[in-house]
Amino acid sequence: MMRDLQEEHLGESLVEIRHATVYREMQCVLKDLSLCIPLGCSTVILGPNGSGKSTFMKLLTRELYPVAKETAAIRLLGRETWNVWDLRRQLGMVSADLHHDYLGETPGLEVVLSAFFSSISLYDHHAISHYQRAKSYEVMDRLGVASLQDQPFAHMSTGEQRRILLARALVHEPRILILDEPTTGLDVSACFQYLEILRQFIREGGTVILVTHHLHEIPPEIDRVVLLNDGHIQADGPKREVLNAPSLSALFGTPVELLQRYGWFQVVPAASVS
Ligand SMILES: Nc1ncnc2c1ncn2[C@@H]1O[C@H](COP(=O)(O)OP(=O)(O)OP(=O)(O)O)[C@@H](O)[C@H]1O
Ligand SMILES: [Mg+2]
Repeated sequence: MMRDLQEEHLGESLVEIRHATVYREMQCVLKDLSLCIPLGCSTVILGPNGSGKSTFMKLLTRELYPVAKETAAIRLLGRETWNVWDLRRQLGMVSADLHHDYLGETPGLEVVLSAFFSSISLYDHHAISHYQRAKSYEVMDRLGVASLQDQPFAHMSTGEQRRILLARALVHEPRILILDEPTTGLDVSACFQYLEILRQFIREGGTVILVTHHLHEIPPEIDRVVLLNDGHIQADGPKREVLNAPSLSALFGTPVELLQRYGWFQVVPAASVS
């Protein structure tokens, strides 16, 4: 089904951002940023703390808007205007903000089901279908969190919470996943399981937009890398061109060496000469 959607939208752009300047309070966080990502082109936005990654994500989810000027424009899936709920139904999201929104008594199953309504909790007017319930059980089972269906979100470990949020992101079968540092709080095994699910999602035709400062979070299937440095695009291109020790040392403001194995990357401190 996802492949059908993919073919239907072949050539369509997922996001087109032109000359976006974004302020948070008095601070100019994104500076005249222009970026286009076609549907089907999974992309990682890599940058240090405070470089504007989460702010960029909020442009995609319509939580923030650029300063109005004639040259500024944001198109998502080819449209400039969206009902924000319609838009969010097309996306699966995992972020620290979403994580914080859920720190409460909501049981695991309700967190997952809430994806069908683009909401945080379930309300009386939400009629849950048999399909939605069955699908939620299926995805939770796949992610190893079926036993958490009645457990309040606040009473789960951080890793369990993240897996429940990934189940929420996947349950309504979106064709786009928007992930902001998704493996935060996951142990090695949970992190690898998470990454395997992302890889499968991409192989099946889904598009991932991932923002992170962790190179190990980038699955081999994501080839396009955008380096975001202090609200500017420092580089944008295929991994083999963009990821190298000098560019990453400049990005993170510290000398690093780049390690690569089987399509995965990691950085370590540059060898000391003394
Ligand atoms: N709610 C807010 N109000 C005011 N300023 C904010 C707000 N959120 C972020 N900022 C500022 O915007 C800048 C960019 O923040 P952003 O969260 O986009 O960075 P980031 O690249 O996601 O960093 P990190 O890797 O730490 O998550 C930071 O300097 C931050 O202080
Ligand atoms: Mg962030």
